Amino acid sequence: MYRTHTCGQLRLENVNKNVCLAGWVQKVRNLGAMTFIDLRDRYGITQLVVAENATETVKKSAATLGREFVVQVYGKVVERASKNTKIPTGDVEVLIEKITLLNRSDVPPFTIEDESDGGDELRMKYRYLDLRRKVVRQNLELRHRMGHLVRNYLDTQGFMDVETPVLIKGTPEGARDFIVPSRMNQGQFYALPQSPQLFKQLLMVAGFDRYYQLVKCFRDEDLRADRQPEFTQIDCEMSFVEQEDVLGIFEGMMKHLFKELCHLEMTDFPRMTWHEAMELYGCDKPDLRFDMKFTDLTSFVKGHDFPVFEEAEYVGAICATGCAEYTRKQLDELTEFVKRSQIGAKGLIYVRYNADGSLKSSVDKFYEEACLKKWAEVCGAKVGDLMLLLAGGRSKTLPQLSALRLEMGERLGLRSKDVFKALWIVDFPLLEWDEETQRFYAMHHPFTAPKTEDIALLETNPSGVRANAYDMVINGVEVGGGSIRIHDSELQSKMFTCLGFTKEEAEYKFGFLLNAFKYGAPPHGGIAFGFDRLVSLFAKLDSIRDTIAFPKNNSGRDVMNDAPSLVDEVQLKELGIKTMC
Ligand code: AMO
Repeated sequence: MYRTHTCGQLRLENVNKNVCLAGWVQKVRNLGAMTFIDLRDRYGITQLVVAENATETVKKSAATLGREFVVQVYGKVVERASKNTKIPTGDVEVLIEKITLLNRSDVPPFTIEDESDGGDELRMKYRYLDLRRKVVRQNLELRHRMGHLVRNYLDTQGFMDVETPVLIKGTPEGARDFIVPSRMNQGQFYALPQSPQLFKQLLMVAGFDRYYQLVKCFRDEDLRADRQPEFTQIDCEMSFVEQEDVLGIFEGMMKHLFKELCHLEMTDFPRMTWHEAMELYGCDKPDLRFDMKFTDLTSFVKGHDFPVFEEAEYVGAICATGCAEYTRKQLDELTEFVKRSQIGAKGLIYVRYNADGSLKSSVDKFYEEACLKKWAEVCGAKVGDLMLLLAGGRSKTLPQLSALRLEMGERLGLRSKDVFKALWIVDFPLLEWDEETQRFYAMHHPFTAPKTEDIALLETNPSGVRANAYDMVINGVEVGGGSIRIHDSELQSKMFTCLGFTKEEAEYKFGFLLNAFKYGAPPHGGIAFGFDRLVSLFAKLDSIRDTIAFPKNNSGRDVMNDAPSLVDEVQLKELGIKTMC
């Protein structure tokens, strides 16, 4: 037996017991007469002591130990004279009677402690060492527990775990596919699934009724803090359901997770239509941890010869409570913020509601105080508040004001990671017009059903059709999305026509699904959650990267094993692929 206890297990009740531990040497402190060793494993850290009266062999062995050496020690548990309240084993230590060196270690490239001195790239290169750090390991432990709870919840609701293939034909989720060449079918390629969307619908045709899977998905898209090229979905589908049924089951799942993992009893999630969200928050994933809704001032600002407002299709404002005293420097910083290329506003207009009741703005030349007062009234601004206005084309200004709102929320400390505000966004538009290609795209995917009462609009006013689609948003993060599907092949064909597919194209891409729909497809719908995003939210992280054991960096590279990499000529030849040079 390698050990009697783990390094996180010993307590006062074990005093005087002879124990055997095994683990990694985190730190050695030589205090002359005595040596202290911190021994670490997945479960914790235990202090070991080489006492003044230890045998020469023990003293000699201890003297050769370095960071990350793997050892096995025998000894007696004693109560510590000076206790460490920061760790659960801090009341005791183990007096070493025998040390066995199980393996040596090179000097690690960074310190393997909660506060590491290793930069991001270095930690990723040596990820297996980074994973020894408690702060990183805890995220993976949380991931494990969350996965377990999800599976249990879905199991009790009658969902069945079914695996779907990884080498498939392209999926229509809107990102680029990763493709895999086929050796046996030269010149032809598989795609890796962006989601199991079509397979889960086929499982409904097959009568499986309730399906789920914690499944890897692959999307070749630009990476951000909440996006990885391979990520995991909690993917689900149900038959004989309407939108309400799906929302009910999955709101229940989320409440269950909050209760079990955070001891939080969440109240019912509010619902907001996509239009409301765009109007009030300028985006379809509003962060409801703070209010600061938009006010449309367009009709109040016209007719004063201020060219920026005269030309603007939309003038919107937010009201920052208690910020009237912002300094020139702070206002300049905000102006610089909205002018950054990622945001792209031309400038920022402000109105201070001073303590003496007067109003002062950056456009005083054009607007008298009575006008500013009207704006304040419409915005609900009070003495001491600051109004911030952006103007321009509607579709550009809404997201710019949304970015400014989030920035103000951040500056005012209103986005605490300890607070959770969830909501459903419903009634998404079914289709989205793309100016560049002059055609409609499905906002969700082409299998999403239109609202029954809007079906007639498909032919007359496609952009006015609302979808039976929904997203779950928590703290401004889209954690999941889904829809009720089209199960009628005639309506599906109509949808393909709206999306500009010819009959042949639709047949080539999705023929197998259309064919399956001819054999009694039940009404069905579902949802998929971003598992990594959920874990990062519960773990209060800024990025999903630390919820994944071996993630990619922002250029999509695995810096540890240096993937992607070149393959040799022979392999390419076998695949029938010509080399690039
Ligand atoms: P959707 O494309 O909205 O829907 O994806 C579902 C959820 O997956 C997460 N997600 C990601 N997480 C990390 N990295 C990424 N690159 C990434 N892309 C998406 C998000 C998102 O809400 N088949 C449909 C679901 C359905 O209709 O049932 C789908 O995939 O949290």
